Amino acid sequence: MRHVKIVRTARGMQKLALQARGRGIRIGFVPTMGYLHEGHVALMKDARKRIGPQGLLVVSIYVNPTQFGPTEDLSRYPRDFRRDRRLCREAGVDVVFYPQDSEMYPGRSEGLFSTYVTEVALSVGMEGASRPTHFRGVTTVVAKLFNLVLPEVAVFGQKDCQQASIIQRMAKDLNFPVRVVVAPTRRERDGLAMSSRNAYLTPSQRSQAVCLSQALNLARQLVRASVRPLSAAVLTAKLKRLIDRAPEARVDYIAFFDPRSFQPVKQVSGGTHLALAVFFGKTRLIDNALL
Ligand code: PAJ
Repeated sequence: MRHVKIVRTARGMQKLALQARGRGIRIGFVPTMGYLHEGHVALMKDARKRIGPQGLLVVSIYVNPTQFGPTEDLSRYPRDFRRDRRLCREAGVDVVFYPQDSEMYPGRSEGLFSTYVTEVALSVGMEGASRPTHFRGVTTVVAKLFNLVLPEVAVFGQKDCQQASIIQRMAKDLNFPVRVVVAPTRRERDGLAMSSRNAYLTPSQRSQAVCLSQALNLARQLVRASVRPLSAAVLTAKLKRLIDRAPEARVDYIAFFDPRSFQPVKQVSGGTHLALAVFFGKTRLIDNALL
């Protein structure tokens, strides 16, 4: 099994990446916030396939404070670096970039960090509406990570479809020399999308959480069974009824949208995308599917 190199400083990461690029080594990158699961590991395997056995596979583990709102779960976000390091080793990762806040945002608490990257079209609705400063934090940290890791290819998960599209748009708009690839959502046996936040669920909430993927399946069935476009309002009410059968579920949003623009649609047909956000207590889960 390979040895994983742990890099903790921004300069160290950039130096290593520059050296690798100078030697013509292909760099593949999977950014994460840690507490890794099979969904993350699938992205690592995808990146490895694209860069080949001689490539340098880099995974970052960093719980990025700028993408959490003031009332969100930053301080209690689950962490287990030893386990993450082992999973990275088993997945054939070469480098784990594991910086602290003082490396990523030096001087931020004294007002000495003041440059952000903002995408202003795709990030307005859905997650952007529910979490107003979230995507600004994501685009900023991913831009920083791209500049430190210098990847030729970076792999993101379809589970966070809005995030993945925003990163693709950012890379194109700002000419980052990186190919942003989106890999499919990995699920538990009952259909629940894997997520680090699933660890927050009580056993009862965990069994109720299957309602997200059930709602996606119901929408898919209804759309496939209909020859005409369906009303988004009517479908939304049907899905809400299904989700509300779970006693602790509280719908944050149900959104039918055009996956190119992330603009809501009134009529739903094949090609429409559906995204859901549902609270179980304080835990907020998301999922999405192309219908
Ligand atoms: P995190 O939630 O740790 O997710 C890291 C990557 O794993 C993201 O691209 C996410 O879409 C992907 N992912 C999560 N669950 C998945 C699943 N079940 N199947 C497939 N892929 C999955 O997303 C973030 O971290 C952060 O916003 C980050 C991009 C690292 C910036 O801080």
